Amino acid sequence: MLIRPLVMIDLPDVLTIERESFPAPWSAGMFLLELDRADSLCLVGEAENKILGYVICSQLDLDWHLMNIAVPPAGRNEGIGRALMTALLEQLGADARLTLEVRPSNEAAIGLYKSFGFMLAGRRTRYYADTGEDALIMWRTEGTLRGSLEDVPNADGGAR
Ligand SMILES: CC(C)(COP(=O)(O)OP(=O)(O)OC[C@H]1O[C@@H](n2cnc3c(N)ncnc32)[C@H](O)[C@@H]1OP(=O)(O)O)[C@@H](O)C(=O)NCCC(=O)NCCS
Repeated sequence: MLIRPLVMIDLPDVLTIERESFPAPWSAGMFLLELDRADSLCLVGEAENKILGYVICSQLDLDWHLMNIAVPPAGRNEGIGRALMTALLEQLGADARLTLEVRPSNEAAIGLYKSFGFMLAGRRTRYYADTGEDALIMWRTEGTLRGSLEDVPNADGGAR
């Protein structure tokens, strides 16, 4: 699999995966906004002219926010998500601090993030408008890579 920047021509395939993957999928406009930003990193995995997954990450203030990652249902559990995360972290560099929100029910994503050194750090109440679910906030920092939340803002472990 080749991992390369996401470009506009990928959007139809990306939108198909997005709709298969999320109850409240992003619109084309939301992807275009990310593609337009100077401080975002948008990658796709591709093999034989087929998009196998994508990851979108944006810098807000000093920290990077993992905004979106998806692999089509038929391609999951084959290491594609791990390969996308590995490429993303390589491109962001060793000093990058990353945060993200994830549904508590999304065991696959939480498992993936934990395996890259993300730790649960907090919770946003009723964050997801479609189901009213809370969001878990996760961070990956120098501290979390050592198992500590000491350098994570307002961290309470997401236990509330
Ligand atoms: C989350 C997602 C991107 C993972 O992609 P994937 O290609 O299936 O993941 P991989 O095969 O690379 O697995 C990587 C790691 O994720 C974790 N993982 C994957 N599926 C898992 C599951 N069902 N339960 C627990 N952990 C899981 C494991 O740690 C796994 O590592 P391992 O295979 O060494 O055990 C994929 O499930 C997906 O697209 N989900 C729908 C979209 C989504 O929810 N995105 C996240 C939004 S926050």
